[in-house]
Amino acid sequence: MKIGVPKEIMPGERRVALVPDAVSGLVKAKNEVLVETGAGAAAYFTDADYQKAGARIIPDAAALYGEADIVVKIHKPVENTALGKHEVDLMREGAVLITFLQPAMNPDLVQRLIARKISGFSLDALPRITRAQAMDALSSQATVAGYKAVLIAAGAIGKFFPMLTTAAGTIAPARVFVLGAGVAGLQAIATARRLGAVVFAYDVRPAVKEQVESLGAKFLMVELADKDTQDKGGYAKELSEESHKREMEFLARNITGMDVVIATAAIPGKRAPLLITRAMVAAMKPGSVIVDLAAETGGNCELTQAGREVVANGVTIFGPVNLPSAMPTHASQMFSKNITNLVMLMVAKDGKLALNFNDEIIKGTCVTHEGRSMRG
Ligand code: NAI
Repeated sequence: MKIGVPKEIMPGERRVALVPDAVSGLVKAKNEVLVETGAGAAAYFTDADYQKAGARIIPDAAALYGEADIVVKIHKPVENTALGKHEVDLMREGAVLITFLQPAMNPDLVQRLIARKISGFSLDALPRITRAQAMDALSSQATVAGYKAVLIAAGAIGKFFPMLTTAAGTIAPARVFVLGAGVAGLQAIATARRLGAVVFAYDVRPAVKEQVESLGAKFLMVELADKDTQDKGGYAKELSEESHKREMEFLARNITGMDVVIATAAIPGKRAPLLITRAMVAAMKPGSVIVDLAAETGGNCELTQAGREVVANGVTIFGPVNLPSAMPTHASQMFSKNITNLVMLMVAKDGKLALNFNDEIIKGTCVTHEGRSMRG
């Protein structure tokens, strides 16, 4: 198979879908890897690194898309304004595309893939099974975001994170509150602990208490009215009105004493739960910081603005978007590992494409194939 790695054209995107290390593995497995000139440059991987790993460098996007059997991308395809063509229309008819497609939110893109007879596979649709974990790019990128969120907070508060005993007196450690202990939240907890903060965490799923505690943080419990707060897949469910009321009272009591809040609460496919009101922000100490990772899905904080920094009553609220791109080397390395594992599942030992639709992962991620939608 010819696997194509185009340069990402989304403004501000610094990651690349495959890193040179992954290229060598794919080449050994009888594939050819085509990399657009400069595709890895913003993540500090040079064309020479890719060539050494066995890739062929292709000077322009049109040639790369035109030749590739499988295109791997970080961002969903968009209009390439320099070429005056949509990235999907640059692809060969019948080729495979693997990226985050978010089909429910992008019906026009799905139609375009159907029209071009592209087999579109969406990384955000991976089933939550053990075998798929090594392909779970949403999780690997959320790990990066959780880490970076804490660094944003540490850089913005006028305080140390750790406790210090110095000749100039004793410094109390920062108090960090992490809302939502999923992938990003757990990494935020671990990072804040490594920096020496006293960390508290809250999640509607009591199942995560043990994980939170194993990282050295304190799990704050709230008595909710709902019996079941997670679905069969292990994801959080939306809370009843009564539970949400209790949760908000609990948060109002606990947020005031915190120096930092890292908000990561999310329910798949839904607007992010609103957990921090304007009044709660007003009750926080000036100089405190909120980093709201849910900014793009509406925000956990009422005052969050996606991609902006808002200051209210001396409290700074960050609504960062695309944090993984701010740490492009390792974010790309992790993405690359995920996508390589998925590609390997699609290519037979003889290097030919072998899509097995009886495989839960192939079936679950496939959005379009042979000119039709695979979503029923
Ligand atoms: P996840 O699904 O693993 O974790 C979300 C957690 O929130 C779950 O543990 C869930 O139980 C919890 N939760 C749901 N409702 C809650 C509530 N009412 N109160 C407390 N906890 C609640 O998701 P993941 O991968 O950790 O991502 C977290 C957020 O970060 C998502 O909104 C995601 O879109 C965002 N994200 C943002 C990035 C950025 O650059 N800004 C990059 C990556 C992820």
